[in-house]
Amino acid sequence: MAIHRNTSGTLTQAQLTHPENLRELRQGLLGLPRRISSKFFYDDRGSDLFCQITELEEYYLTACEFEILHQNASRIGKIVAGSRGNTAVSILEAGPGDGRKTQIITRSFANLFDSVSYGAIDISPEALDVALQRVSQDMDIQTHSVIGDTLHSLPDLVSTATGSRLFLFLGSNIGNYASDGAARLLSVIREALFPGDFVLIGFDLEKEQEILIPAYSDSKGVTREFNLNLLKRLNRELGADFDVNEFEHEARYNVEAGAMQSFLVSQKRQKVNIEAMGLDLVFEQAEEIHTENSHKFTLDGIESMASRAGFVPIEHFFDTRNYFTTSLWKIPDAAPV
Ligand code: AVI
Repeated sequence: MAIHRNTSGTLTQAQLTHPENLRELRQGLLGLPRRISSKFFYDDRGSDLFCQITELEEYYLTACEFEILHQNASRIGKIVAGSRGNTAVSILEAGPGDGRKTQIITRSFANLFDSVSYGAIDISPEALDVALQRVSQDMDIQTHSVIGDTLHSLPDLVSTATGSRLFLFLGSNIGNYASDGAARLLSVIREALFPGDFVLIGFDLEKEQEILIPAYSDSKGVTREFNLNLLKRLNRELGADFDVNEFEHEARYNVEAGAMQSFLVSQKRQKVNIEAMGLDLVFEQAEEIHTENSHKFTLDGIESMASRAGFVPIEHFFDTRNYFTTSLWKIPDAAPV
Protein backbone atom coordinates (compact mmCIF):
# COMPACT_ATOMS: atom_id res chain seq x y z
CA MET A 1 0.00 0.00 0.00
CA ALA A 2 1.33 3.45 -0.91
CA ILE A 3 1.60 5.63 2.15
CA HIS A 4 1.13 9.35 1.76
CA ARG A 5 1.47 10.77 5.21
CA ASN A 6 0.12 14.09 6.29
CA THR A 7 2.31 16.36 8.35
CA SER A 8 0.13 16.51 11.41
CA GLY A 9 -0.88 12.95 11.87
CA THR A 10 -3.60 11.18 13.82
CA LEU A 11 -5.79 10.71 10.80
CA THR A 12 -4.90 7.41 9.22
CA GLN A 13 -7.29 5.39 7.12
CA ALA A 14 -10.65 4.55 8.63
CA GLN A 15 -11.85 1.45 6.76
CA LEU A 16 -15.14 2.24 5.06
CA THR A 17 -16.22 -1.39 4.95
CA HIS A 18 -15.91 -2.00 8.71
CA PRO A 19 -19.47 -2.80 9.89
CA GLU A 20 -19.39 -0.03 12.51
CA ASN A 21 -18.31 2.51 9.90
CA LEU A 22 -20.97 1.33 7.46
CA ARG A 23 -23.57 1.80 10.19
CA GLU A 24 -22.25 5.29 10.94
CA LEU A 25 -22.23 6.19 7.23
CA ARG A 26 -25.81 5.01 6.74
CA GLN A 27 -26.99 6.96 9.77
CA GLY A 28 -25.17 10.07 8.58
CA LEU A 29 -26.44 9.91 5.01
CA LEU A 30 -30.02 9.35 6.13
CA GLY A 31 -29.85 12.07 8.79
CA LEU A 32 -30.96 15.65 8.61
CA PRO A 33 -28.72 17.41 7.80
CA ARG A 34 -26.87 14.66 5.94
CA ARG A 35 -23.39 13.93 7.25
CA ILE A 36 -20.25 11.98 6.32
CA SER A 37 -17.60 11.90 9.05
CA SER A 38 -14.31 13.65 8.30
CA LYS A 39 -12.49 10.54 9.53
CA PHE A 40 -13.26 9.02 6.10
CA PHE A 41 -11.23 11.68 4.25
CA TYR A 42 -7.98 9.84 4.66
CA ASP A 43 -7.62 7.09 2.10
CA ASP A 44 -4.32 7.22 0.13
CA ARG A 45 -5.64 9.93 -2.20
CA GLY A 46 -7.18 11.93 0.67
CA SER A 47 -3.95 11.78 2.67
CA ASP A 48 -2.01 12.93 -0.37
CA LEU A 49 -4.43 15.82 -0.90
CA PHE A 50 -4.21 16.79 2.77
CA CYS A 51 -0.44 16.82 2.44
CA GLN A 52 -0.84 19.26 -0.50
CA ILE A 53 -3.20 21.40 1.61
CA THR A 54 -0.57 21.77 4.32
CA GLU A 55 1.77 23.30 1.73
CA LEU A 56 -0.71 25.95 0.57
CA GLU A 57 -0.04 29.57 1.49
CA GLU A 58 -3.73 30.01 2.46
CA TYR A 59 -3.68 27.00 4.82
CA TYR A 60 -1.53 28.79 7.39
CA LEU A 61 -1.92 26.21 10.21
CA THR A 62 0.99 23.93 9.32
CA ALA A 63 3.50 26.70 8.66
CA CYS A 64 2.49 28.35 11.96
CA GLU A 65 3.07 25.19 13.93
CA PHE A 66 6.45 24.55 12.28
CA GLU A 67 7.45 28.11 13.19
CA ILE A 68 6.29 27.62 16.79
CA LEU A 69 8.18 24.35 17.17
CA HIS A 70 11.37 25.72 15.60
CA GLN A 71 11.28 28.74 17.91
CA ASN A 72 10.29 26.97 21.12
CA ALA A 73 11.37 23.32 21.08
CA SER A 74 14.37 24.07 23.23
CA ARG A 75 12.34 26.06 25.78
CA ILE A 76 9.77 23.25 25.93
CA GLY A 77 12.62 20.77 26.51
CA LYS A 78 13.98 22.90 29.36
CA ILE A 79 10.58 23.02 31.05
CA VAL A 80 10.19 19.26 30.74
CA ALA A 81 13.77 18.65 31.92
CA GLY A 82 13.58 21.12 34.80
CA SER A 83 10.41 19.66 36.11
CA ARG A 84 11.84 16.49 37.63
CA GLY A 85 15.51 16.90 36.92
CA ASN A 86 15.37 13.78 34.76
CA THR A 87 18.19 13.22 32.30
CA ALA A 88 16.03 10.87 30.22
CA VAL A 89 12.93 11.81 28.27
CA SER A 90 10.35 9.82 26.32
CA ILE A 91 8.49 11.60 23.56
CA LEU A 92 5.22 9.87 22.74
CA GLU A 93 2.87 10.58 19.87
CA ALA A 94 -0.44 9.37 18.52
CA GLY A 95 -0.59 9.36 14.72
CA PRO A 96 2.79 10.94 14.04
CA GLY A 97 2.23 11.96 10.40
CA ASP A 98 5.47 12.11 8.44
CA GLY A 99 7.51 12.80 11.59
CA ARG A 100 8.83 16.20 10.43
CA LYS A 101 7.33 18.10 13.36
CA THR A 102 8.42 15.40 15.78
CA GLN A 103 11.95 15.62 14.44
CA ILE A 104 12.21 19.30 15.41
CA ILE A 105 11.51 18.26 19.00
CA THR A 106 13.69 15.15 19.12
CA ARG A 107 16.69 17.00 17.63
CA SER A 108 16.31 19.84 20.08
CA PHE A 109 15.82 17.55 23.08
CA ALA A 110 18.97 15.63 22.16
CA ASN A 111 20.96 18.71 23.29
CA LEU A 112 19.21 18.79 26.65
CA PHE A 113 18.82 15.19 27.77
CA ASP A 114 21.33 12.32 28.09
CA SER A 115 18.79 9.97 26.58
CA VAL A 116 15.82 10.62 24.30
CA SER A 117 13.40 7.92 23.23
CA TYR A 118 10.44 8.13 20.90
CA GLY A 119 7.29 6.03 20.79
CA ALA A 120 4.38 6.33 18.38
CA ILE A 121 0.99 4.75 18.02
CA ASP A 122 -0.95 4.39 14.77
CA ILE A 123 -3.33 1.90 13.19
CA SER A 124 -1.07 1.68 10.14
CA PRO A 125 2.30 -0.15 10.51
CA GLU A 126 3.55 1.45 7.26
CA ALA A 127 2.77 4.90 8.64
CA LEU A 128 4.68 4.13 11.82
CA ASP A 129 7.69 3.05 9.75
CA VAL A 130 7.75 6.37 7.90
CA ALA A 131 7.68 8.42 11.11
CA LEU A 132 10.14 6.27 13.04
CA GLN A 133 12.59 6.27 10.15
CA ARG A 134 12.42 10.07 9.88
CA VAL A 135 12.95 10.58 13.60
CA SER A 136 15.90 8.18 13.81
CA GLN A 137 17.51 9.08 10.48
CA ASP A 138 20.19 11.37 11.88
CA MET A 139 20.31 10.65 15.58
CA ASP A 140 20.84 7.82 17.97
CA ILE A 141 17.39 7.44 19.45
CA GLN A 142 15.57 4.45 20.85
CA THR A 143 12.20 4.07 19.12
CA HIS A 144 9.20 1.89 19.69
CA SER A 145 5.76 1.67 18.19
CA VAL A 146 2.34 0.29 18.96
CA ILE A 147 -0.08 -0.66 16.20
CA GLY A 148 -3.55 0.26 17.36
CA ASP A 149 -5.89 3.14 17.94
CA THR A 150 -5.28 5.78 20.56
CA LEU A 151 -8.52 5.32 22.43
CA HIS A 152 -7.75 1.66 23.16
CA SER A 153 -4.01 1.14 22.96
CA LEU A 154 -2.43 4.27 24.44
CA PRO A 155 -1.56 2.59 27.77
CA ASP A 156 0.57 0.04 25.81
CA LEU A 157 2.57 2.90 24.34
CA VAL A 158 3.00 4.69 27.66
CA SER A 159 4.14 1.51 29.40
CA THR A 160 7.24 1.45 27.18
CA ALA A 161 8.32 4.96 28.20
CA THR A 162 10.89 5.90 30.81
CA GLY A 163 12.08 9.19 32.33
CA SER A 164 10.06 12.35 31.80
CA ARG A 165 7.18 11.87 29.38
CA LEU A 166 5.97 14.36 26.76
CA PHE A 167 2.92 13.39 24.74
CA LEU A 168 2.43 15.14 21.36
CA PHE A 169 -0.94 15.87 19.79
CA LEU A 170 -0.15 18.40 17.09
CA GLY A 171 -1.78 19.97 14.04
CA SER A 172 -5.06 21.19 15.62
CA ASN A 173 -6.41 17.70 15.01
CA ILE A 174 -8.33 18.18 18.25
CA GLY A 175 -10.39 20.71 16.27
CA ASN A 176 -11.93 17.97 14.14
CA TYR A 177 -13.58 16.39 17.19
CA ALA A 178 -16.95 17.40 18.61
CA SER A 179 -16.56 18.75 22.15
CA ASP A 180 -17.62 15.47 23.82
CA GLY A 181 -15.26 13.48 21.56
CA ALA A 182 -12.39 15.85 22.35
CA ALA A 183 -13.11 15.59 26.08
CA ARG A 184 -13.17 11.79 25.83
CA LEU A 185 -9.88 11.68 23.95
CA LEU A 186 -8.21 14.04 26.44
CA SER A 187 -9.42 11.97 29.35
CA VAL A 188 -8.01 8.80 27.72
CA ILE A 189 -4.67 10.61 27.35
CA ARG A 190 -4.87 11.86 30.94
CA GLU A 191 -5.64 8.37 32.27
CA ALA A 192 -2.79 6.76 30.32
CA LEU A 193 -0.16 9.25 31.55
CA PHE A 194 1.21 9.87 35.06
CA PRO A 195 1.54 12.81 37.47
CA GLY A 196 4.33 15.10 36.32
CA ASP A 197 3.96 14.14 32.62
CA PHE A 198 3.44 16.74 29.88
CA VAL A 199 1.23 17.10 26.82
CA LEU A 200 2.01 19.38 23.86
CA ILE A 201 -1.10 20.09 21.87
CA GLY A 202 -1.85 22.28 18.82
CA PHE A 203 -4.88 24.60 18.49
CA ASP A 204 -5.91 26.86 15.66
CA LEU A 205 -7.09 30.15 17.16
CA GLU A 206 -10.27 32.11 16.40
CA LYS A 207 -9.64 34.76 13.78
CA GLU A 208 -11.26 36.84 11.03
CA GLN A 209 -13.29 34.97 8.45
CA GLU A 210 -11.23 36.70 5.73
CA ILE A 211 -8.36 34.47 6.83
CA LEU A 212 -10.36 31.35 7.73
CA ILE A 213 -12.47 30.99 4.59
CA PRO A 214 -9.58 30.90 2.08
CA ALA A 215 -7.78 28.39 4.33
CA TYR A 216 -10.66 25.97 3.75
CA SER A 217 -11.58 27.07 0.24
CA ASP A 218 -8.21 27.66 -1.39
CA SER A 219 -7.72 29.29 -4.77
CA LYS A 220 -6.07 26.21 -6.31
CA GLY A 221 -9.07 24.03 -5.45
CA VAL A 222 -7.08 21.46 -3.46
CA THR A 223 -9.50 21.55 -0.51
CA ARG A 224 -12.39 21.22 -2.97
CA GLU A 225 -10.76 18.09 -4.41
CA PHE A 226 -10.07 16.81 -0.87
CA ASN A 227 -13.76 17.17 0.02
CA LEU A 228 -15.03 15.68 -3.27
CA ASN A 229 -12.66 12.73 -2.81
CA LEU A 230 -15.05 11.54 -0.10
CA LEU A 231 -17.68 10.88 -2.77
CA LYS A 232 -15.09 9.34 -5.10
CA ARG A 233 -14.06 7.08 -2.24
CA LEU A 234 -17.66 5.93 -1.74
CA ASN A 235 -17.83 5.28 -5.49
CA ARG A 236 -14.58 3.30 -5.48
CA GLU A 237 -15.04 1.31 -2.31
CA LEU A 238 -18.79 0.94 -1.91
CA GLY A 239 -19.94 0.87 -5.53
CA ALA A 240 -21.77 4.20 -5.17
CA ASP A 241 -22.67 6.26 -8.25
CA PHE A 242 -22.22 9.85 -7.00
CA ASP A 243 -21.78 12.17 -9.99
CA VAL A 244 -18.96 14.25 -8.50
CA ASN A 245 -19.46 16.94 -11.14
CA GLU A 246 -22.88 17.60 -9.64
CA PHE A 247 -21.63 18.33 -6.12
CA GLU A 248 -19.72 21.42 -5.07
CA HIS A 249 -17.43 22.12 -2.13
CA GLU A 250 -18.43 24.88 0.26
CA ALA A 251 -16.66 26.10 3.41
CA ARG A 252 -18.40 28.43 5.90
CA TYR A 253 -17.70 29.71 9.37
CA ASN A 254 -20.34 28.78 11.93
CA VAL A 255 -20.14 31.43 14.64
CA GLU A 256 -22.23 29.48 17.13
CA ALA A 257 -20.13 26.31 16.75
CA GLY A 258 -16.87 28.31 16.58
CA ALA A 259 -15.90 26.14 13.61
CA MET A 260 -15.12 26.21 9.95
CA GLN A 261 -17.52 23.73 8.39
CA SER A 262 -17.22 21.95 5.06
CA PHE A 263 -20.12 20.81 2.94
CA LEU A 264 -20.76 19.05 -0.36
CA VAL A 265 -23.69 20.78 -2.03
CA SER A 266 -25.89 19.01 -4.56
CA GLN A 267 -26.09 21.11 -7.73
CA LYS A 268 -29.40 19.62 -8.84
CA ARG A 269 -32.09 17.16 -7.78
CA GLN A 270 -30.42 13.77 -8.23
CA LYS A 271 -30.59 10.13 -7.23
CA VAL A 272 -27.62 8.22 -5.85
CA ASN A 273 -27.27 4.51 -5.24
CA ILE A 274 -24.72 3.02 -2.83
CA GLU A 275 -24.57 -0.60 -3.90
CA ALA A 276 -22.66 -2.10 -0.98
CA MET A 277 -25.11 -0.53 1.45
CA GLY A 278 -28.26 -1.27 -0.53
CA LEU A 279 -29.06 2.41 -0.19
CA ASP A 280 -30.94 4.72 -2.58
CA LEU A 281 -30.79 8.43 -1.83
CA VAL A 282 -32.49 11.44 -3.39
CA PHE A 283 -30.69 14.79 -3.07
CA GLU A 284 -32.68 17.97 -3.65
CA GLN A 285 -31.02 20.87 -5.43
CA ALA A 286 -28.82 22.78 -2.90
CA GLU A 287 -29.12 19.98 -0.35
CA GLU A 288 -25.91 19.64 1.64
CA ILE A 289 -23.79 16.89 3.12
CA HIS A 290 -21.85 18.19 6.14
CA THR A 291 -18.37 16.67 5.98
CA GLU A 292 -16.17 18.41 8.53
CA ASN A 293 -15.93 20.68 11.57
CA SER A 294 -12.62 22.44 12.15
CA HIS A 295 -13.05 24.16 15.50
CA LYS A 296 -11.22 27.36 16.27
CA PHE A 297 -10.23 28.10 19.85
CA THR A 298 -9.74 30.91 22.36
CA LEU A 299 -7.11 30.77 25.09
CA ASP A 300 -9.86 30.72 27.73
CA GLY A 301 -11.49 27.78 25.94
CA ILE A 302 -8.17 25.94 25.73
CA GLU A 303 -7.43 26.49 29.42
CA SER A 304 -10.83 25.30 30.57
CA MET A 305 -10.55 22.27 28.27
CA ALA A 306 -7.18 21.50 29.91
CA SER A 307 -8.45 21.79 33.45
CA ARG A 308 -11.66 19.86 32.78
CA ALA A 309 -9.48 16.98 31.56
CA GLY A 310 -7.20 17.16 34.62
CA PHE A 311 -4.24 19.07 33.12
CA VAL A 312 -2.63 22.34 34.16
CA PRO A 313 -1.79 24.69 31.28
CA ILE A 314 1.88 25.64 31.63
CA GLU A 315 2.58 27.87 28.62
CA HIS A 316 1.04 28.74 25.25
CA PHE A 317 3.49 29.20 22.37
CA PHE A 318 2.51 31.38 19.40
CA ASP A 319 3.61 32.06 15.83
CA THR A 320 4.50 35.65 14.95
CA ARG A 321 1.01 36.32 13.54
CA ASN A 322 -0.74 34.83 16.62
CA TYR A 323 -2.81 32.60 14.36
CA PHE A 324 -2.05 29.34 16.15
CA THR A 325 -0.96 28.13 19.54
CA THR A 326 0.89 25.03 20.59
CA SER A 327 0.12 24.62 24.24
CA LEU A 328 2.11 22.83 26.92
CA TRP A 329 0.04 21.15 29.64
CA LYS A 330 1.11 19.19 32.67
CA ILE A 331 -0.49 16.58 34.86
CA PRO A 332 -0.08 17.93 38.40
CA ASP A 333 2.64 16.24 40.47
CA ALA A 334 1.27 13.70 42.92
CA ALA A 335 0.88 15.05 46.44
CA PRO A 336 3.56 13.61 48.78
CA VAL A 337 2.24 10.86 51.06
C1 AVI B 1 -6.49 17.58 9.93
N1 AVI B 1 -7.24 18.78 10.25
C2 AVI B 1 -6.67 19.49 11.41
C3 AVI B 1 -7.46 19.68 9.10
C4 AVI B 1 -8.29 20.91 9.55
O1 AVI B 1 -7.78 22.02 9.41
O2 AVI B 1 -9.38 20.72 10.07
C5 AVI B 1 -8.16 18.99 7.95
C6 AVI B 1 -8.51 19.90 6.81
N2 AVI B 1 -9.67 20.03 6.28
C7 AVI B 1 -9.64 20.91 5.30
N3 AVI B 1 -8.43 21.41 5.23
C8 AVI B 1 -7.68 20.77 6.17
